[in-house]
Amino acid sequence: MVSLPDSVAVVTGAASGMGRSMAEAFADEGASVVVVDVDEDGATDVAEHIRSGGGDAIAVIGDVTDADSVDEVVDRTIDEFGTIDVLCNNAGVLDDFTPVGDASDELWYGVIDVNLHGPFLLTRAALPELQQGDDEGVVINTASIAGKVAGGGGAAYTTSKHGLIGFTKQLSHDYGPEIRANAICPGAVETGMTDQMIEEMEAMTADTPAQRYAQPEEIAAVAVFLASDDASFVHGTAVDVDGGWLVD
Ligand SMILES: NC(=O)c1ccc[n+]([C@@H]2O[C@H](COP(=O)([O-])OP(=O)(O)OC[C@H]3O[C@@H](n4cnc5c(N)ncnc54)[C@H](O)[C@@H]3O)[C@@H](O)[C@H]2O)c1
Repeated sequence: MVSLPDSVAVVTGAASGMGRSMAEAFADEGASVVVVDVDEDGATDVAEHIRSGGGDAIAVIGDVTDADSVDEVVDRTIDEFGTIDVLCNNAGVLDDFTPVGDASDELWYGVIDVNLHGPFLLTRAALPELQQGDDEGVVINTASIAGKVAGGGGAAYTTSKHGLIGFTKQLSHDYGPEIRANAICPGAVETGMTDQMIEEMEAMTADTPAQRYAQPEEIAAVAVFLASDDASFVHGTAVDVDGGWLVD
């Protein structure tokens, strides 16, 4: 039995990595999916892949840092599917582990813009749709273990992900029970973001309980759970999906 029947899910950064896996997993669970990304070819490919497997998906080329583009994402979703039930603010960029003394204004604002301002813009634009209807709206924000401890990124990345967890809690506080907002905190995951640092990820995860990095599908499975009624009493939390990275 599918766990997201008749749901409409918007996933940002869905052209690759975890966003792609989330979009495909949501479609497998019966949701209609809006694949949002700045990467036109990638987003189109993901939507076509979902449709070719019998699922329902459209690609919307959108930049989460741009208010007009975000409005377009919401408008296209309403035109195509009528509402928004699940919003996954997943698009993100890394900061090459740059410490504060070496971070340019451009790097700082660029990372904050995508990782924190983007989720704010799209959540605000989607709120009326998420609040509509009898069922609660669901927001899932892809944070990181860098949202809980230092060292999982540089200054801008760590700050953005700590901020995203705070944003998730405040959203939950202000809009529960109509909206169920949660964050996911992945550890090291093999995606487009990290494919140049596989050796580093192996070293970073060697001492964790799982002793390995993750595949994106392992994070998407948790997103499906959080989007489903199985998570009906899960509000405002930041779920570690990190192979136990944070146990020590
Ligand atoms: N890979 C990891 O180890 C890891 C760990 C913890 C958290 N994360 C977080 O997971 C999320 C997904 O990252 P990933 O690892 O799958 O990386 P990825 O690079 O494979 O995917 C990120 C996607 O976001 C898109 N994107 C970037 N800027 C955008 C914008 N302004 N508007 C719309 N789309 C944009 C990119 O085109 C890309 O398709 C990010 O928020 C990242 O910070 C990743």
